[in-house]
Amino acid sequence: MLYLRDKHRMEIEKSTKFVQENSITIKNHPLRQHYHFEVPYGWCNDPNGVIFFKGQYHLFYQHYPYQANCGAFKTYWGHAVSNDLLNWEHKKIALAPTDDFDNGGCWSGSAVELDGELLLFYTGISSKNNNAQVQCLARSSDGIHFIKSKKNPILSTPMCDTDALDFRDPKVWKYGDYWYMVVGSAKEELGTVLLYKSTDLKSWEFINYLIESFGKLGTVCECPDFFELDGKYVLLCSPKGMGQRKTIYLVGDFDYHVGRLFWSTYGEIDWGMDYYAPQSFLDGHNRRIMIAWANAWDWMPWFKNGYHTSQFGWSGGMALIRSLSLAKDNRLRCTPIQELKTLRNSRKVLENIALENGKVINLFASDNPCCELLFDIHVKDNLKQEEQKIILEFTENKSTIMICDIKKCEIVFHRGFTSKKCPLKLVDMHLKLHLFIDTTSVELFTDDDCVSMSNNVYDLGTTLKINMKAVGEGSHLHKLNCFPISAPNAESSG
Ligand code: FRU
Repeated sequence: MLYLRDKHRMEIEKSTKFVQENSITIKNHPLRQHYHFEVPYGWCNDPNGVIFFKGQYHLFYQHYPYQANCGAFKTYWGHAVSNDLLNWEHKKIALAPTDDFDNGGCWSGSAVELDGELLLFYTGISSKNNNAQVQCLARSSDGIHFIKSKKNPILSTPMCDTDALDFRDPKVWKYGDYWYMVVGSAKEELGTVLLYKSTDLKSWEFINYLIESFGKLGTVCECPDFFELDGKYVLLCSPKGMGQRKTIYLVGDFDYHVGRLFWSTYGEIDWGMDYYAPQSFLDGHNRRIMIAWANAWDWMPWFKNGYHTSQFGWSGGMALIRSLSLAKDNRLRCTPIQELKTLRNSRKVLENIALENGKVINLFASDNPCCELLFDIHVKDNLKQEEQKIILEFTENKSTIMICDIKKCEIVFHRGFTSKKCPLKLVDMHLKLHLFIDTTSVELFTDDDCVSMSNNVYDLGTTLKINMKAVGEGSHLHKLNCFPISAPNAESSG
C-alpha cells in the first residue's frame, strides 16, 4: 500500500511540474481568456469537487496534463483555489490515475467536508476490470495533498438493474443523519440517476432511481447534481443522446423516504454550444453557485473542427460562474455572480437610438475584446411586417453574429456555419440582453436570467467592434450600458 501511495505522490509531483513548466510558454498567448478560468496547460473538461472549504473556494477539474486532448480519458484531477471566484491560484494536481481501481482515469465527482478534512468522491475506470466504472474516495487534511482510501473502490457495482459500464460522476451531500449520493447511469440504454445513502461514506445502500428517462432524458445521465432550492428540489444533469439539448434541469418535489424526484418543470440550463457538466455547491453566503465546462464533446451535433486551442498546448476552461435561484414559475434562474461587477471599468451609455431597417450602427469599439453589455431594446408590435430582427455582428467578416428574431421568438447565434438557438421573450415589448465577451467566448443572459447561451468563438481578434442593425422598422435601442472589463489579478501557480 505504501508503494501505491508513493507511486501516486510521484506522479502528482511529475505531472504538476510538467504543467508548471509548460504553462509559462502559453501564459500570454493572445487566445487565453482574461476573466474566465482556464487550464494552465494540457486538457480540461468537467468541473469536479467544487466546494467552499476553510474559507476558500476549491475548484477541481478533469485534467490531462501532458497533452491538450483528453488523453483517451485517462484523466487526472487538476486543482485551483480562489478567495473571490475571480482570481484562481493553480495548485498541485490532486488525483492521478495510478491504482488498479482508477488506472483508466480518475473521472468526475464531488467533494464534501468532514471533521476538517476535504473528501473527494470520484469515478475510477478500472482498465484491469474491463473498464468497469467504480466509485472511489480520497481525503486530505490540508485541502492540497490527497491520499486515496484503502477501502477503494467504495462502491463497485450499481446494486440495481443498470449498466456498470455507465455508472459514474458521484455527487455527495449530507441531510440529517445520513450521507446521500447520486450517480449517473443508464438502464437499457435510457438515462437514469441512482440514489444511495450511507452513514460512514464508505458503505453505501441503494435507495431508488431518483429519475428514469422513459425515453425523455437521453441515453446516459452524466454528472447529476441534486439539491434543495427555494423550497423545491432541483436535479441538474448532462444527458447524452438528446440532440440539441445537453444540460437540463428538473424541478419538483422529493421525499428522502421514497427517494424519487417527482418533477414538474423541465428546462435547458444553457442553450449554447459550449456549456456542459455543471456542478453546484453552497458557498459561505448560502448562495448556490454553479460552475460548468465551457466546451463541447465530439458527440454533440454542432461539434466541428476539433478543439481550437489544442494546437497551442491547452484546451478547456469554465464558463462564467452563476448563482442559482428559482423564478416564480419554478424555472431555473442562473445569474452571473455579482463579484463580476468588480471587474467593470468606466461605463459608456447609448440611449434612444432608432434602429432603422438595414442601417448599421457601430455600438462598441475597443482595443480589447473583454466587455459586458446590457441592452434594453424596445420593439413595436408591427404585425404587418414579415420580418423583424435585431442583429449583432461581433466580427467584421460577419462570421460571428447573433440574430434576435422577434417574429419567430428565437435568438440564433451563428459561429461560422454552425449555429444554436434559444428562446426570445419580450416583456412589455422590451428585449433585455446581457452579454459577456472575453477573448474566445460570448455568453448571453436573457429573460430574467432564465435563459442563457454560452458559445466559444475563435475569430474575435484582439480588438472588438460590435455592429448592430435591424431588419424591419419599429425597434429602437432604449438603452445600452457598456462596461469594458479588466482581467482580475494575473493567475499564479502554487
Ligand atoms: C462528462 C464526462 C463524465 C465523465 C468525464 C470523463 O463530460 O463524460 O461523465 O466522468 O466526462 O472525463
